[in-house]
Amino acid sequence: MPEIPILAIDGPSGSGKGTVAARVADALGWHILDSGALYRLVGLAALKSGVNLNDHAAVAEIARHLPVRFESGKVFLGDEDVSLEIRTETAGNNASKVAAIPEVRAALLEWQRSYARPPGLVADGRDMGTVVFPQAAVKIFLDASAEERARRRYKQLKDKGMDVNLPGLIAEIEERDRRDRNRKVAPLVPADDALVIDSTSMNIDEVVDLVLQAVRKALPDVGTGE
Ligand code: C5P
Repeated sequence: MPEIPILAIDGPSGSGKGTVAARVADALGWHILDSGALYRLVGLAALKSGVNLNDHAAVAEIARHLPVRFESGKVFLGDEDVSLEIRTETAGNNASKVAAIPEVRAALLEWQRSYARPPGLVADGRDMGTVVFPQAAVKIFLDASAEERARRRYKQLKDKGMDVNLPGLIAEIEERDRRDRNRKVAPLVPADDALVIDSTSMNIDEVVDLVLQAVRKALPDVGTGE
């Protein structure tokens, strides 16, 4: 069977990965894996069951038996719709805490790989190109300054009606970056063969074009809907 084409998009929080991944997946007609959502769900599920995030064995057990359903654009934990709750900054911060636990990453590994289905997969995360899909045909590392990422996140959360403040967001983003870049397992680093895009002064359309160009170059036979 021919290998399923994979586009790995990694980068720090707020770099625009989620939006770019969704737009590119749409243009290609490919599936999408939002791996950050899985770590957010583990953090949330642990707290909801009264598990302390420092209890690594208990958090890993939660990760192994996560009662998650993705249905018509919504995310359910058991019967509860947690689509909004997993998107808060607190959920993001808790996700980055559980993501530093090796057993949690191991529990999610094969599950993430099972998302690779024809005609292709756009995988969005921190270690898509380095650990989960090292064979990915195209690897992008999307970066932007911490201030710019905080500004984008601010707008995104405000648009969702959430109550946020910019200085607090900058501090949280910097703290999360530090944790994600310095952890021992699967730290946030560009794969050796990744195309690094600094989107600080680019708009989403420009980034999407650049990513689609990279896909066309690596996979000339793939239609990009244009
Ligand atoms: O991308 P998102 O902000 O939803 O990710 C939340 C957290 O989950 C990140 O800060 C990171 O610590 C963790 N994560 C990870 N590996 C991934 C995706 C997310 O460690 N592939």
